[in-house]
Amino acid sequence: MQLAVRDFARNEIAPIAATLDREPRFPWETLRRMGDLGLLGLMSPEEYGGAGIDTLGYVVLLEEIAAADASHSTIMSVTNGLPQQLILRYGTPEQRTRCLPKLASGEWIGAFCLTEPHCGSDAAAITTRADRVEGGYLLRGTKAWITGGGEAQLYLVMAKTEPDAGARGVSCFLVEKGAEGLHFGPPEGKLGQHAAIATSVTFDDLFVPEEARLGDEGQGFVMSMTSLDGGRIGIAAQAVGIARAALDAAIAYADDREAFGQPIREFQGVSFKLADMATRLDAARLLTWRAAWLKDRGYRVTKEASMAKLFASEAASFVTDGAVQVFGGYGYSTDFPVERLFRDARVTELYEGTSEIQRVVIGRQLYREQGR
Ligand code: CAA
Repeated sequence: MQLAVRDFARNEIAPIAATLDREPRFPWETLRRMGDLGLLGLMSPEEYGGAGIDTLGYVVLLEEIAAADASHSTIMSVTNGLPQQLILRYGTPEQRTRCLPKLASGEWIGAFCLTEPHCGSDAAAITTRADRVEGGYLLRGTKAWITGGGEAQLYLVMAKTEPDAGARGVSCFLVEKGAEGLHFGPPEGKLGQHAAIATSVTFDDLFVPEEARLGDEGQGFVMSMTSLDGGRIGIAAQAVGIARAALDAAIAYADDREAFGQPIREFQGVSFKLADMATRLDAARLLTWRAAWLKDRGYRVTKEASMAKLFASEAASFVTDGAVQVFGGYGYSTDFPVERLFRDARVTELYEGTSEIQRVVIGRQLYREQGR
């Protein structure tokens, strides 16, 4: 599967990556092809139209897509990792049957709505409300930086059902595109990953029936955190893929480019840089695979997922920055791919929890594991 997906990514995604960066649009045609290949429902069971593979298989394939284009891999990671995993784990039979096959086939893309304009890291401070009314709830509030905003058909929305109860007052709701009161802002201007369109999403007294609540009232925060444990492994795999593309480009360039009468790879200044880039990339991949492997064996992976995401995202910034340096002036040119990879990598240190939040999570787990 890895080789088949590598071929697909190289032949159908990589050739359009630079154009999507310059002329951003949500890449529906290639996403549909990814749906046909099973790449958008990789961990969903076959009974829901998914491929039924484990997390380790998923991250191996996600790396292949990320190495071709980061935007595709972000959309793939969000729809596979957050909405589908939550619906699988907490959904009623009706919610699973209605949503999962459409998500797995790529007919629907899923979006995860937690972050708000005033709070990203402090996720329990959200102010979007879900007030009880007859037969359901009224949603009011605004979410920010929603990957797939306006494009996705299914939005998993975290809102406060008990505003004074902090993290325990958050519940999760399924909202479909077209619902009355659902509005989207314009695409955010971003440093990179331009085709992974992100917008604000506003709920203007939007009615959701009782049956659209996912899980129990008050469970939404813990649901978000457990799904982010899995999602962060996906972002780590994505960072590995972006870094791999940058390292491959740098290795090839250092062999071709000559200076002072020899290929620049003959200079230690270049070869030591490539060696450091390759070492960090391998370490990032191994941390990612470890987290995936442990998750597949039923372990709680809060710490390991954060370690993988923290290390891999910082490695991706290091490797893409090194690739720009190896390319010299051409590394700064839009005629070569490394400047795009450099920009695309940066957000992996920000979304699904900043590097600082990963350190908070790891630091807390060190004590929790000892029962302190
Ligand atoms: N698994 C299970 N339960 C967890 C958990 C986990 N990983 N993390 C926390 N919890 C539980 C706690 O046990 C606690 O439960 P009890 O009330 O029963 O004790 C409850 O959740 C509250 O936990 P904390 O007290 O630790 O909560 P906190 O307010 O201190 O926040 C945090 C912790 C780690 C900082 C959290 O707010 C966080 O992860 N912030 C970052 C948010 C984030 O990653 N946002 C990304 C948005 S999604 C995105 O970017 C997608 C995209 O579009 C690409």
